[in-house]
Amino acid sequence: SRTVLALDVGGTKLAAGLVSEGGELLESLREPTRLDTGPQGVTRQLVALAHRLLERSALPVVGVGVGCGGPLDTALGLIKSPPNLPGWTDYPLTRRLEEALQLPVWLDNDANAAALAEFSFGAGRGCREMVYLTISTGIGGGLILGGHLYTGKSGNAGELGHIQVVYDGERCNCGGQGCLEQYASGSSIARRARQLAAEHPESLLWQLEPDPAGITAHTILRALEAGDVVVRGFWDQTIQYLAAGVSSVVHTFDPQRVVIGGGITNFGEWLFGPLRQQVARRTMPPLWQGVEIVPAELGDQVGVYGAAAVALRHLEAGLAGA
Ligand code: BGC
Ligand code: NA
Ligand code: ZN
Repeated sequence: SRTVLALDVGGTKLAAGLVSEGGELLESLREPTRLDTGPQGVTRQLVALAHRLLERSALPVVGVGVGCGGPLDTALGLIKSPPNLPGWTDYPLTRRLEEALQLPVWLDNDANAAALAEFSFGAGRGCREMVYLTISTGIGGGLILGGHLYTGKSGNAGELGHIQVVYDGERCNCGGQGCLEQYASGSSIARRARQLAAEHPESLLWQLEPDPAGITAHTILRALEAGDVVVRGFWDQTIQYLAAGVSSVVHTFDPQRVVIGGGITNFGEWLFGPLRQQVARRTMPPLWQGVEIVPAELGDQVGVYGAAAVALRHLEAGLAGA
């Protein structure tokens, strides 16, 4: 039996793993992304992680899957200009890794990869139409349609974080305006929460986090649990943004399941209960009927499983074509 090497490139952390053909995670490593060292420095980090895992592998490693924030050129293996990897314009990540590792490398969008992993090994098993939404530093999406990952004409289908939920809203790093990511990603929730604290000296946020710069999405969760009224209103608004995005996707694809992953799943029923209610309110009844909105099952290893799923899919396609 064989294994693949999986690399997940995030704006905050890098994760790497060895995964068997059957989808079993055998080894994994992670470390913070040193964004200040540029794409070359981050590539050196990835190569070092890869070497550590290759040395440990008892089984032959036959290829490398890489998941990374988009937009990408998946055919040429280029990172185009991701909102959360500033300065990585047209960077040939696939070629650099192939040179360093002497193995075939396949690149795909991190959220498309995670969608594939949840579909193959997680919360999307047995589903033909599944939408995956990751809500972490950024917001990403992936679409499983008719039992296959839908890639679109350029390989970039499923950029669900850049659905516009406010037509004249905040400018986004992608060049657009009013994108869901600007309102409901982990980093945007933190930014909006700091504004909220500044406008509401009476809010519990100040007791929970006296230094406004230290306010994160986690501070919001603690304030909700403590029953803060101001934060309650803020959170309802955040759910409305998310529900607007999810409802659009349900109207477009009529899925059975919407799987949500990323740091936001720590909000548990604070997230899922009200989100189901608000999506129901905004969606045509025949399309809403039977839709399940559920947490991802692969937890914080979803990125590694995703990257592995990309490599496994290419290996299978290669075998089928041979
Ligand atoms: C990017 C997506 C990515 C997501 C999560 C977004 O800003 O546009 O391609 O999937 O962040 O990393
Ligand atoms: Na995507
Ligand atoms: Zn955007």
